[in-house]
Amino acid sequence: MLVVRQRGGSGALRWRLGGLAALVVGLVVLAVAAALVLVPWPDEQEHPHAEGNLRRLADARGMDLGVAVAVEPLAQDSTYQDVVSGNYTSMTAENTMKWSLVQPERGGFDFSGPDALVDFADEHGMSMRGHTLTWHNQLPGWLTEREWQEEELRQVLQEHTEALLGRYQGRMQAWDVINEPFEDDGPELRENLWLETMGEDYIAHALWTANAVDPEAELYINEFNVEGGGAKSDALYELASDLLERGVPLHGIGFQSHFVHGRVPDDLVQQMERFTDLGLDVAITELDVRIPEPVDRKQIEEQGQEYRQVVQACLEVERCPGVTVWGAADHHSWVPEWFPGTAEALPFDEHYVPKPARSGMVDALSRRPGGGPRSDR
Ligand code: G3I
Repeated sequence: MLVVRQRGGSGALRWRLGGLAALVVGLVVLAVAAALVLVPWPDEQEHPHAEGNLRRLADARGMDLGVAVAVEPLAQDSTYQDVVSGNYTSMTAENTMKWSLVQPERGGFDFSGPDALVDFADEHGMSMRGHTLTWHNQLPGWLTEREWQEEELRQVLQEHTEALLGRYQGRMQAWDVINEPFEDDGPELRENLWLETMGEDYIAHALWTANAVDPEAELYINEFNVEGGGAKSDALYELASDLLERGVPLHGIGFQSHFVHGRVPDDLVQQMERFTDLGLDVAITELDVRIPEPVDRKQIEEQGQEYRQVVQACLEVERCPGVTVWGAADHHSWVPEWFPGTAEALPFDEHYVPKPARSGMVDALSRRPGGGPRSDR
């Protein structure tokens, strides 16, 4: 009060107004700063269940943007359905097309899960990747708990291929015919049922068999720990070259791309191009980026850039048909079960809220080839 009196009537009013203005400006600055830290990216604010621009952008770029899908939530959870069909152009069966689920008893086939997925894909104008034909995991007991003669096992593989690939013939864009043929960290072929019984030729044999049943499908070898080069990648390269020289119907290599945050290879494009130079497609087939716990906002933002980098890599590689993420949302991810202490690997969180990983993919797809962001985002 004393100060106001000394300054006089109108001066006091100006001083008060000035103080008020400074307070308002200060509050606005604080609010903007808080918003920058707390408010999600623009794409995260979009309703994730609507036909979002992610799917539209992928379509516009002629790129398959896929998601691995599980049967139960697809049947029971409308939000899960909306995330799948609203954001992606393609689906992979996460588990339901694997041996133990398709043929739990010899000659006893269960196609309820695969049918549900393929029908959903058709209804929503999505393409399908088939997963998987020969693998060491998720095989039924009747197949693993006894010895087989080579000819017998060839017959079993033939029957399974005719039943599964035959049922969806013409409806599958691609099949992971050979899954993880090399040891986890090594260049040696994996000691699995197929190798032990049929020898190395099981790979060519499975590809020929698949090609005879579904001649239109692109046939893949799908592998992990090859995305950054190294001895395992070299062994895969040798295998692919050899198969192609022999005229075996191999059309693509799947880089699974189960990455750890901070370790996405810088030379992903070069590694992919090594294989596309052979005349093969290279797809990113099982992308996720797991983060060691506790997970903070900064890591989630950086993960968004890693998703952007991977989609950008696919766009740069002429023969990369697409990128598939391995799960619709974090609570459906395989990561916490298989890598305890890591989490948050996917573009949608456990409440189906989109994360910067989704924005990162939008960002990559929005950039003009060789240029900056498109103006029509
Ligand atoms: O089927 C049983 C069910 O009967 C049981 O009630 C339930 C209880 O937990 O488990 C069910 O089995 C689970 C199975 O998925 C089917 O849902 C297993 O516990 C679970 O370990 C299994 O994990 C799958 C894993 O392959 C098996 O190796 C993951 O969901 C799936 O994402 C993962 O996918 C693989 C790709 O096929 C190949 N590349 C690696 C990728 C990640 O491992």
